[in-house]
Amino acid sequence: MRKRFKKDLQLFIMQRKILVGNWKLHPSTMCQALQLTKEIVKTEYDIFDICIIPPQLFISTIVNELKDNQNICIGAQNCHYESSGAYTGETSVESLKDIGVKYILCGHSERRILFEETDNIINKKVKKVVESGLTAILCIGESLEEKEFGLVNEVCNRQIKIGLHEIDINNIDKIIIAYEPVWAIGTGKVCDSDQAEKIIKNIRDTVASLYNRTIRVIYGGSVNTKNIRDIWNKDIDGCLVGGASINSQIFNDMIQSL
Ligand code: PGA
Repeated sequence: MRKRFKKDLQLFIMQRKILVGNWKLHPSTMCQALQLTKEIVKTEYDIFDICIIPPQLFISTIVNELKDNQNICIGAQNCHYESSGAYTGETSVESLKDIGVKYILCGHSERRILFEETDNIINKKVKKVVESGLTAILCIGESLEEKEFGLVNEVCNRQIKIGLHEIDINNIDKIIIAYEPVWAIGTGKVCDSDQAEKIIKNIRDTVASLYNRTIRVIYGGSVNTKNIRDIWNKDIDGCLVGGASINSQIFNDMIQSL
């Protein structure tokens, strides 16, 4: 009976769409971060999950601000794959979990490109996140050059296979894949929703070929109030929103349009 309940609960969670707001390195002060949180909370919804991902330093305060809110979870933009040690400037998954983080972005293209994170490093982070009981949002996606060479599925498949290397099947439910074409991030050039749906189907098939399971796959890259409904209504499990999530009016409009 308990097992059945756990399975039903898992299925329910898997079927819920998720809207993720990645604040990146915004805003600059705790006061502004709190204000933004308070404004987002004014919105009412309960049919999908929402996760906001502020800069690391604001997390504790925001978790505290949202302690009576069951619908919004907090994520972190990055973590280290070791629990402790001589890693100056890094943040462990354990410490993020301790302050109330539920989701951690792994392999965002800005980290891959600007901070030279490799697929192997990203895999270590994903492993650490899920083994610690949190959910990893594994970001994948092709560059413009790779798209022009027709390598979209190849790039995604490689990033999935290395990113999920040695992830135990029992932890696969703790992974969300975010398909984020690099050329769409912060550029205003959103991927055509039919095209995104097709690529996401390939991503699901690749995961199914490895685990015989389906996981949530969301889309990110220039999602805004004008295009979110089109993407949301496809066979896509949600959206990862960057720039448009740091304006409470825009983010609330997006939520209300879904
Ligand atoms: P964007 O960013 O919505 O500003 O394109 C997406 C992301 O950072 O994941």
